[in-house]
Amino acid sequence: MSNPSLLILPGDGIGPEVMAEVRKIIDWFGARRGVTFDVSEDLVGGCAYDAHGTPLADATMAKAQEVDAVLLGAVGGPKYDNLDFSLKPERGLLRLRKEMDLYANLRPAQCFDALADFSSLKKDVVAGLDIMIVRELTSGVYFGEPRGIFEEGNERVGINTQRYTESEIDRVARSAFELAMRRNKKLCSMEKANVMESGVLWREVVTEVGKDYPEVELSHMYADAGAMQLTRWPKQFDVIVTDNLFGDLLSDLAAMLTGSLGMLPSASLGAPMENGRPKALYEPVHGSAPDIAGQGKANPIACILSFAMALRYSFDMGDDATRVEQAVEKVLADGLRTADLLGEEGRAPVSTSEMGDAIVAALDASL
Ligand code: NAD
Ligand code: IPM
Ligand code: MN
Repeated sequence: MSNPSLLILPGDGIGPEVMAEVRKIIDWFGARRGVTFDVSEDLVGGCAYDAHGTPLADATMAKAQEVDAVLLGAVGGPKYDNLDFSLKPERGLLRLRKEMDLYANLRPAQCFDALADFSSLKKDVVAGLDIMIVRELTSGVYFGEPRGIFEEGNERVGINTQRYTESEIDRVARSAFELAMRRNKKLCSMEKANVMESGVLWREVVTEVGKDYPEVELSHMYADAGAMQLTRWPKQFDVIVTDNLFGDLLSDLAAMLTGSLGMLPSASLGAPMENGRPKALYEPVHGSAPDIAGQGKANPIACILSFAMALRYSFDMGDDATRVEQAVEKVLADGLRTADLLGEEGRAPVSTSEMGDAIVAALDASL
């Protein structure tokens, strides 16, 4: 059997810095667990634009379609802010998601005990939190037509279109119900059916899909109220399913329940292929963090936990995924903190690479 294949796209800003730490974990699996990944590396985002004049070269897109999993760091940065829209770094990432048809974006928000004091919310609100946001990723207002900036009379108008077909809602709802079945059998769907027709259809289709999952307790919430409830008492939720834009906002919000945006991993999955596995891309929820890039300050945990999700969802290595998650938990319990996980008081932060090294040491100790 051939080795599992991974395409690594470090991207821009802190992307390459956090990805260097994931490389240490991948090397550890080769050296200590006898699992060798065939790793290739390529460009996406601003660095791809600098090299090829496009945020994602066709050859890179083709490679992404072939490998077992793609691991991406982050894209974007102020240098590229004034580029034509079609050339922006973010378009490279959106093209990957769209052409690989990665419609189910799993964004777990888990509060590690060691960080329960660090969230901006009270400790009992977040301690023990473990929720999963399923964000629709290939449709909605991110991709709907018409879109653009047009002349209208004597002024311009900016247009984006929220659009969902029944089948697009159906398939992401099924992903969420399947996850709920493997967790606590509770699913909350969020939209704005009170003001948007796409929300009305979303609610209808999710309700219909729910008939195939009678064991799952299904509830519906308007997304604005959902944002409020996520900060009031997030532990009322288990799995949340929502559209592309609401999912983007709600997952950044959920990140702060865990202590830092630098903690949140994600998996973007397509439909199962012939081999039973989905096409997949794994990436941290955070961006390229231009404010701290190049300073060794970035927290690599979100990217490392994204690799753990790859072990679980693409490589059938659930026990090893848990091993990586427990190694992260151990270094946090030992008091290691990158700067984003420290308040004003005391303790010196560790660097990105010190955090990676400590996680590798914890993996060693787990054998
Ligand atoms: P951001 O997520 O890059 O940063 C927001 C804040 O969180 C910053 O203060 C940053 O320092 C901090 N932060 C983020 N990740 C961190 C980490 N791992 N460790 C420590 N601190 C961390 O969001 P932004 O500033 O709004 O966007 C910057 C650029 O990144 C933009 O070009 C945006 O489009 C892009 N972006 C890309 C992705 C992606 O590639 N998936 C996601 C979000 C934003
Ligand atoms: C994310 C990011 C992306 C999004 C951008 C960079 C295209 O914010 O992955 O959360 O809006 O989906
Ligand atoms: Mn986002």
